[in-house]
Formats: sequence, C-alpha cells, structure tokens
Amino acid sequence: AGGIPGKLVILDQRRLPEEEIYLERTTVEDLHGDIRTLAVRGAPAIGIAAAYGVVLGAVSASGGSARTAVESALSAADFLASSRPTAVNLFNALDRMRAKARHAGLDASSGTEAAGILLAEARRIHEEDEAICKAIGSNGAGLIRDGTGVLTHCNAGGLATSGFGTALGVIYAAFMRGRRFKVYADETRPLLQGARLTAWELSRAGVEYCILCDGAAGWAMRTGMIHIVVTGADRIARNGDAANKVGTYALSVLAEKHGIPFYVAAPSTTFDRDCPTGSEIPIEERSEDEVLAFMGRRTAPPGARAFNPAFDVTPAGLITGIITENGIIERPDRAGVEAAMRWGTAGKVAGQIRKPKPA
Ligand code: MRU
Repeated sequence: AGGIPGKLVILDQRRLPEEEIYLERTTVEDLHGDIRTLAVRGAPAIGIAAAYGVVLGAVSASGGSARTAVESALSAADFLASSRPTAVNLFNALDRMRAKARHAGLDASSGTEAAGILLAEARRIHEEDEAICKAIGSNGAGLIRDGTGVLTHCNAGGLATSGFGTALGVIYAAFMRGRRFKVYADETRPLLQGARLTAWELSRAGVEYCILCDGAAGWAMRTGMIHIVVTGADRIARNGDAANKVGTYALSVLAEKHGIPFYVAAPSTTFDRDCPTGSEIPIEERSEDEVLAFMGRRTAPPGARAFNPAFDVTPAGLITGIITENGIIERPDRAGVEAAMRWGTAGKVAGQIRKPKPA
C-alpha cells in the first residue's frame, strides 16, 4: 500500500535441509502460525519476524487514518505475543514496535505514513541484529583455537538470527580468522534443529562438523573430543540464569563434571531485565506428538504419554561466560549482567566484563 511492501518473505525452516522453500506472508495470522510451528524460529529471528508482522498489521489498515493503522499494528503486536512464550526477543521487539506505533499515531498524518514509520523501525531491529551478531562473533572467536572440539546444541546460527548467528557466529568468526577445528552438533531431539539446520549451515560454510545424538555428548566429553561448549539462549534472567533449547542444562552439568568451559552466546535483546532469576522464565511445553512420533510416523505404543518441554534453564553458576556484543560476562551473576547490559550498576564490576581486542 502506497509504496510500503505488504509482504514478508521467510525461509520455511520446517522443510530444511531437503527443500529451500520461501513463504510469502501478507497476514498476521499466517505469520503467527509460522512462528508457532517453527517455520521461523530461533530467538532473535522470532523477534525480527514479529517486528515485520506488526508492519503487516499496520499495512492491512493503512488506507485510512494513522490512528486506524496504529490500532491495527497494536492488535497485531498483542496477537503475535501469544505465538511462543520463552524467547524474550519476541517481547522485546514487540515492545519496541508498540512504542514506535504510539509515536506514529501522534506524528503521522496518514495510515501509509504510520506504516512507513513502523517499517523503518522493523528494519532497524533487523539491521541492529546483524551488527550485534558480528560483535558477538568477534568477542568470542578467540575462545576457539586450531584443533578445538566445539560442542553446540540446537541451532543458534544464521537461521536463528538475521543471518550470522550467536553461538555459530562465534564459530564462523573463528573460522574466518583461519582457525581450523571441529564442531560437534547435537542432533537436538525432538525437532532436530541440530541435525537439520546447524548441519545445513555448517556444511554451506565449509566448517568441519559431525552430528551427535543428544545422548552421546557425555561420552564425547569423557573421551576428550570436546574442549568447549557454546550454545545460544532464548532468555537470560538478571542473575545470569539462561534458558535455551531443552538438553542445554544437561550439557552444562556434564561440562562441569568434565572440567570443560561452558559458554552461552547471546545478544542484549535476549536479556530480560524484568526477570530476576531463571525460575521466573516461562518454559514452553509443546505437543506430545513431537516426541511420540518421528518424521510424521508414530513410534510410541498407543496410549503412551510424553513430557515435551521445549527449553530448560542453565543456572548461572554452571556458565563459564556469556558472550555478548558488549563483551564476555565472566562467571555471570547479577552484577555482571547489569554491568554488561548497562542497567544501573555499570562500572562497579567492569573487571568481570572482558572485551577481547578485535583481530
Ligand atoms: O525452539 P527453537 O528452535 O526456536 O529454539 C531455539 C534455540 O533454543 C536456540 O538455541 C536459541 O534460540 C538461540 S538462537 C540464536
């Protein structure tokens, strides 16, 4: 409408790696379904997609007044907030879009102008994530040396973000510096984000990798194959507790047992200033069918039940460091998180934030 694109194009991650299919979305309802069913997934990517979803809401009502377009944008934001509960990037992006929508309601003289203001904000969220992921990569790259065995879980790569990734961003940055090492990608049951998506990304990038079924990680650590664990996060509480794909907590316990450093790579948009500890992080429970069947075929006997939490929380005490765009928060705790996020106590514990020099 009036030069504002009313279409969002997303790569359907449910079909990877077999097929690269792009979905063209014009309605907030379709996008809500895409987020819920993991066509678009990964904490930063969900936030970016939802920001564009708010624009779709505005565009759909942009033929009239700015006020009508803004009301439609705000109701799109409320609806998209119900798509998935754990990744705080979704809520952070929607809050930012709501604030912009309210300004647009006052500043814009037409629905088209209001939609344009929102599109610019969604693009800023998108572009900022690109810069943030590059900075995370640069801050973490030095942790990976020639010959390192790097274990990662789920997919915290380009697919989960604006294109470069957080945990995989660290891996790509080390690779681009000429380091040669091997990535162990956890398969990540039940939806195989590791075996399907991380493996797809790493093979395209030319990084050496092999896939482990989730249960093999402990043995790989025990036999000396793993020297560092790097995962992403979906929400980090103020005290440094970090929610990520289910199975991450078990890796942190195993890493401690084997004396292996355990790092989380995450942008500031994944930190929740309103969440004091990991206990307050809502953990999404998904359909039992994801566990009771495999690739669409039922594997469990009739009547079997399943417990299917999509995420778990790794306590800050088991995290060696959180790699952010502002530096690495060593041995994260509330003071370290607040300093890195510049939430009031900045400066007091500056020694806890390590900012490696760019290569
Ligand atoms: O359920 P998903 O596939 O959206 O879960 C994603 C993860 O747990 C990722 O590791 C996390 O979002 C970090 S993404 C940079």
